[in-house]
Amino acid sequence: MERLRSLISGEIGRHLILLGSVDSTNTYALSLSEAMHGTVVAAGEQTGGRGRQGRAWVSPAGRNIYLSVILRPPLRPEEATLLTLLAGVACCEAVRLITGLPVGIKWPNDLMLRGRKIGGILTELKTGNGVIQVAVIGIGINVNAGTEDFPPELCDIATSVRIETGKEHDRDRLIASILNAIDAWYGILLREGRQPVLDIWRNLSVTLGQMVRVMTDNETLLGTAEDIDDMGRLALRLGSGRMRTVHAGDLTILRPGL
Ligand code: BTN
Repeated sequence: MERLRSLISGEIGRHLILLGSVDSTNTYALSLSEAMHGTVVAAGEQTGGRGRQGRAWVSPAGRNIYLSVILRPPLRPEEATLLTLLAGVACCEAVRLITGLPVGIKWPNDLMLRGRKIGGILTELKTGNGVIQVAVIGIGINVNAGTEDFPPELCDIATSVRIETGKEHDRDRLIASILNAIDAWYGILLREGRQPVLDIWRNLSVTLGQMVRVMTDNETLLGTAEDIDDMGRLALRLGSGRMRTVHAGDLTILRPGL
């Protein structure tokens, strides 16, 4: 624990709450109404880990990274996607730095490696008076999980750093690297605006230029993922040639022949 603290160099994670087991670090972080900006909740295990769209997040004990970062950003609720993209960029950079794996980002926030998911981000907000009061950025990265840790239905679509490299990795180094990268990118966002974050996200994206299927709350869209706009929404060119902007949804990259 002291070693992890000594590896954290910025404001993000200076106040660190480490838990052995918790239902969900996001739920715990959202309950800390007075927590200061930059507080981080990390756990060794989650008994009720939550993914996007109401799904469960598989969170076996002692193997992976489960953490939530509490931010108090000067942003409007509709700008929150920027925080998710920023966290995706930070995680991608950190995993690349520590493991050497060429991880990429699938819109909006899945960390991907060779077509399989290695991590995910769940951003949750408390809003009021037209601004974000608190943003909780939940990050899950499969680090030392083996195939035996995934339920059968995930074996073909999920992976871990250990499965990909054949060896165990130091979770503390990876956590510190993620938090330090979030600290750096958050500073850039505040000082220079959103463009640098959007540009690096585009560079790390495995989505842009691909034929995709996007399932939104009420429709399924097929098209080419052309770009993201200034709010982080996906610009999709439909088969008809018309453009559509997608705010949120589940995206699948379609391979030739599918
Ligand atoms: C996704 O569906 O891709 C998002 C997964 C987010 C999982 C992380 S693990 C830490 C934090 N606590 C949770 O309950 N979920 C997020």
